[in-house]
Amino acid sequence: TRPLSVGIAGLGTVGTGVLTMLRENADVIAARAGRSIAVTAVSARDRTRDRGISLSGLRWYDDPVELAADPAVDVVVEVIGGSDGPARALVEAALAAKKPVVTANKALLAVHGAELAAMAEQTGVPLAFEAAVAGGIPVIKALREGLAGNRLSRVTGILNGTCNYILTVMRERGREFTEVLHEAQKLGYAEADPSFDVDGIDAAHKLAILAALAFGRPVAFDAVYVEGIRQVSAVDIAFAGELGYRIKLLGIARRTDAGIEARVHPCMVPLSAPIARVDGVFNAVVAEGDFVGRVMLEGRGAGAGPTASAVVADLVDLARGRFTPVWGAGSGALSDAPSVPMAAH
Ligand code: HSE
Repeated sequence: TRPLSVGIAGLGTVGTGVLTMLRENADVIAARAGRSIAVTAVSARDRTRDRGISLSGLRWYDDPVELAADPAVDVVVEVIGGSDGPARALVEAALAAKKPVVTANKALLAVHGAELAAMAEQTGVPLAFEAAVAGGIPVIKALREGLAGNRLSRVTGILNGTCNYILTVMRERGREFTEVLHEAQKLGYAEADPSFDVDGIDAAHKLAILAALAFGRPVAFDAVYVEGIRQVSAVDIAFAGELGYRIKLLGIARRTDAGIEARVHPCMVPLSAPIARVDGVFNAVVAEGDFVGRVMLEGRGAGAGPTASAVVADLVDLARGRFTPVWGAGSGALSDAPSVPMAAH
């Protein structure tokens, strides 16, 4: 079988991570995919920057939409980021050209996921996004495949590594939010606009995607209640600790009689709950299903390696010809359950 030819749009941390992983693990990837997977084209603004990796032999495009039009590209990987602009234009162009898309873009999916899913499902083109939620934790595949037989009642998660790191350091060293923020940004996990992290927006993007998968229907991003961690002080964290709690920024989505409730805010979590002990840049997702009970997945939610791991898993699925409708089987099954805005509590 001929190799799957991949075009990568965006050569930042994640894009270069994907190139590196496809090269270094080419043997195991080809064995699992049943064919080799090769990057043949890329699109990035800066052609001259040293990315510490050879880019020779790759076709270059300044405009990502041209990358999608390259007839020799079978699959487009979108790791540009941002809910609009070039990332959205690229994904729409690729789907219109009937090219499968693998994206790590949580903002794009949270805001425009319903339209993009409709486009993908109408044309029967795969739109894969394992990397969009919780980086290297295979949570999309877990919800869609591993827990497919369950009615899920609730999905909870630590979905932003930057916030979890800040809260962890505040607790361990008794420091204040503003002192630790800069340190967290230096780790390289923060969003281009760090308010997306600390104000809970990034976690809300990921929660909207998880809720859509868990409950089988799109969840309006605007309907997610969002509160970040700026107001949490070192003293709050210390008092919570004395009472046997950790303060965590959680995303919580649950099914209620009135519809799907989705919210992101700092929570007091008892130390008896395993998620209370997930510290530093780690993410965790807890799903509750009627037959499986409670399942928790933990791992690195950001960074080159973990995010590349998720992108490559999607590429392997595509190379094998696996196709899942965007929100998973059963889309629309709960269409009588409206998503409801969560009132401030
Ligand atoms: N800014 C995100 C985080 C990166 O800190 O978790 C992954 O989406």
